[in-house]
Amino acid sequence: MNRLAHCTRWLVLCLLSSPLLAASPDGVVAVSHPAAAAAGARMLAAGGNAIDAAAAVQFALNVVEPQSSGLGGGGFMLVHLAKTGESFIVDSRERAPAAASADMFAPDGQPMPFPLASTSGLAVGVPGTLRGVDTALRRWGTFKLADTLAPAIELAEHGFRVNRFLAADIADDGGRTRLQPETAAIFRPGGVPLAEDDWLVQPDLAKTLKRIAAGGPNAFYRGPLARAIVNAQQRTHSELGAAGKGRMTLADLDQYRVAIRQPLVGHYRGWTLAGMPPPSSGGLTMLQMLGLLERFPLGDTAQGYGFGSPQTLHAMIEAMRLAFADRAVWIGDDDTVPVPRHGLLHADYLAARTALIKPDSRMDTPQAGDPLPWDAATAVRRKPSPARQQSPHTTHFSIVDRWGNVVSYTSTIEFTWGSGITVPGYGFLLNNELTDFNFVPAANAATGNPGANDVAPAKRPRSSMAPTLLFRHGKPVAAYGSPGGATIINSVLNVTLNLIDHGMPLQQAIAAPRLSVTHAAGRVSCEGGAAFMQPHFSVAAQDALRTLGHIGLGETGTDGCRETIGSVQAVAIDLATGTHYGAADPRREGTVIQVEPAQPRPASRPARPWPSGVDETTRTGPARASGR
Ligand code: GLY
Repeated sequence: MNRLAHCTRWLVLCLLSSPLLAASPDGVVAVSHPAAAAAGARMLAAGGNAIDAAAAVQFALNVVEPQSSGLGGGGFMLVHLAKTGESFIVDSRERAPAAASADMFAPDGQPMPFPLASTSGLAVGVPGTLRGVDTALRRWGTFKLADTLAPAIELAEHGFRVNRFLAADIADDGGRTRLQPETAAIFRPGGVPLAEDDWLVQPDLAKTLKRIAAGGPNAFYRGPLARAIVNAQQRTHSELGAAGKGRMTLADLDQYRVAIRQPLVGHYRGWTLAGMPPPSSGGLTMLQMLGLLERFPLGDTAQGYGFGSPQTLHAMIEAMRLAFADRAVWIGDDDTVPVPRHGLLHADYLAARTALIKPDSRMDTPQAGDPLPWDAATAVRRKPSPARQQSPHTTHFSIVDRWGNVVSYTSTIEFTWGSGITVPGYGFLLNNELTDFNFVPAANAATGNPGANDVAPAKRPRSSMAPTLLFRHGKPVAAYGSPGGATIINSVLNVTLNLIDHGMPLQQAIAAPRLSVTHAAGRVSCEGGAAFMQPHFSVAAQDALRTLGHIGLGETGTDGCRETIGSVQAVAIDLATGTHYGAADPRREGTVIQVEPAQPRPASRPARPWPSGVDETTRTGPARASGR
């Protein structure tokens, strides 16, 4: 029996059969840093649900992984509610200021140099993370915002041990922790870069988090802190002059709102996936790739496929090239520009596109297709519902709680270290998310290019973030996602194929080497060489790909696969037993914490309204968090 048949027969058994997984019936968190994982586990152990835990993890990540996400950035939280079976996305993506313009990164028609533009205030989008977390808590959480901030405040005030990943990002920062004095003071005190095992205390950040705990989101989006953000994004480089200054105003901050969206849902070999709609390209592009690949028997070694075979890798590369060609033209923030999402996923359109993949040769650089004929008949423009008024380089984590609520959350300040600008006196970094827009406007009436990702006022830049849920028989069985810019989509694709086609257990599906192409022109990045990445892509398979004409792998006869792609943190749910599992990525300090069986809730703890989506009668707790 091939792996696909085995997996299909035994449903989720393939996902779960690994001794490396931490298992619990009472909730699991999988996060890229142990201190942030502990913050989430602490919420679950105190009787909180997955949304409470996600809030605590996100705030803690701002402290311990400040180069990747935080208050100064944005993200996408995918929430599944066990009781109703509904899934929602809290879109806290940064927005362009009202004064943004399509040509702002190319005022003379020429794109500004990326290193200068991306470390100037012009690149800073209106941050959304805090409004996003607060909105999710108000809708579905059970703890107060201040409760979920407590672990982060402790970490900022008392400090934590710098791990090797943070130390490496400081050492190899491309200058970003040196450009601004406030950033250098935190990460290079006295001019010396922090090293592994140093202790990092962040009093300004602790003060900021306490201010938010006391005053709520308005303490960030209005008043002195908002003024400090607006002033900080006036920083620019002398080469850019006034053109490099940020355009964000106090009104932009005050008026920032998240959107609650419906996930994009697709199917692959009998499984259902829920992922990101625009403004992220994550879900659309991944579902396109799966649609392009479904005709290939990727899991069947008897037909010459299977994990790492040249046929499998070739089909993956070509599907990635086709989907990224479409992404470049058609996908942007469809609150501003219509995105033909139905056409892009239409079976007939995908059939025409996948026919371009030849089994025995690399195709010439593909152009974007024209999905519009397939879009018109079915297109329904769905407006996101705004969040309730009364409620007000990237990381991924996944959480499941004892009730079966699931969170899959990817967040970012864009580039590692974002803009490099720390808000003076407040201790957090500002994003450079606006560099995710087209630097030179692409809209062209003559060619029909809609300029889907051109800058516009209040628009969200196209993202690649792809927090994903995998369903079987209508129930979530796994949640996962990754950092890594455009490679995010391919990391999620690799893991999906490993689970569904190759029948790998969850931990192996994450650890296995990945392959990525993020441009139609098709330079292949691939992983290999690290001991944990098993099984490897063979040198023979790499040579076969070179013979087909693929580029970027390295020299013939060598293991050219040496890159590191993504960092996937995942949870899984065994539908038969209700047991929760977590799996973490060795590419960062990925950590899984399981929550021990629930104890009765102490009578002294005040009752809080229980969110829809959880059966109140099953609400017990607290439980104690255990280590890995
Ligand atoms: N800035 C990374 C992303 O949104 O994909």
